Amino acid sequence: MAADFTRPDVSPFTPDMDFTPGTSFIRSHFTVPAMTKLIIFTDLHMVPEGTTIIGLDPAERLAAGIDHVNRYHADADQVIVTGDLAHRADRTSYERLKRELDKLTPPLAITIGNHDRRETFLDVFPETVTDENGFVQRVIDFDDCRVVLLDTLFAPPYDYPNSHAGLLCDIRMEWLDRQLETAGDRPVLLFMHHPPHATGFSGMDQIRLINEVEFYDLVKKRGNVLHIFAGHVHRTISGSSRGIPFSVFKSPVHQQPMPFEAPDASLSVDEPAAYGIAVMTDTGVLVHTEDYEIAKREAAVA
Ligand SMILES: [Fe+2]
Ligand SMILES: [Fe+2]
Repeated sequence: MAADFTRPDVSPFTPDMDFTPGTSFIRSHFTVPAMTKLIIFTDLHMVPEGTTIIGLDPAERLAAGIDHVNRYHADADQVIVTGDLAHRADRTSYERLKRELDKLTPPLAITIGNHDRRETFLDVFPETVTDENGFVQRVIDFDDCRVVLLDTLFAPPYDYPNSHAGLLCDIRMEWLDRQLETAGDRPVLLFMHHPPHATGFSGMDQIRLINEVEFYDLVKKRGNVLHIFAGHVHRTISGSSRGIPFSVFKSPVHQQPMPFEAPDASLSVDEPAAYGIAVMTDTGVLVHTEDYEIAKREAAVA
C-alpha cells in the first residue's frame, strides 16, 4: 500500500517494509513517479584467460562489479556498457566477456569502442540491438527519459593514431538527429564511448571524437540532451562542454594516471575499479561513481 504523505501524524513506515540493500523500497511503498536508474560500465578490456593488463585480470575485476550491482542495484532499469569490451577484439575474449555479463540481474544494453571489432562482437553477441544500418546503437525509452547509445567506432583499419579516435559518420549523425527529434517531452541521455570534448589528457584528447563541432551543433540545435556519458579515458571526470554536462567513468581494470601531459595514451595505473550510477529525478539527473572494490568494505558509524 502506498504511503499517505497528507497525514504527517501517520508514519509511512511499517514493520513489514524491506530495507534490504538492492530492494526497491521507494518504488514499492511510496506513490512517486518512476525514476529511472541506470548502471554504467565502460572499458572492460577483456583478455583471454591466463593473460592480464598491467598485472590485472579484467574478468576478475568485472565479476566483482557484477556481483556488486546484483547485490545493491538489482532493481536498476538498465545496465549500459559503453565500449572497449575486449582489449584486442578477439573472439575468445568476447566469449569470456559474455559469460560474465550473462550473470547480470538487470537488463543489459551495449555499444562498442575503439578496441572493438563490430563484426566479431556481433557474432558473439547476436542478440545485440543495432540500428537499421548495422551500427551498434539503439534507443531505449523510459517514462522519464530517452536513452540513446551511440556507436563511435571509426576503425578498422586501425591506422594509428586516427582510427583510435571516435567518429559519428553522416549516417550515424542522421540517425542521432532522428532520435533527438522524436524524443517528445523526454530529456535525452546520450551514451558513447569517445568523449565528444577534450578532457585535459593530451594523449587521449588526440583520439577523442573527431567531429565534435558537428556533433555539438546538432545536439545544441535539438536542445533536449540532458547529459552526455562517455568512457575511453579510464578516469572519473565531470564537467560541461557547450553548456551540456558530461560524466566520464573509470574502467573496472586499468586507469588513466596523472599528469595531464602523457607521453603515451596507453599509460595506465592500477587504481580501484568503478562503475557509474545515473538516477533520473524530477529536477534533473544524479550521477554517482561507485568505486566498488573500496565500497565492499562493511559500513560503520563514524
Ligand atoms: Fe579503454
Ligand atoms: Fe577507448
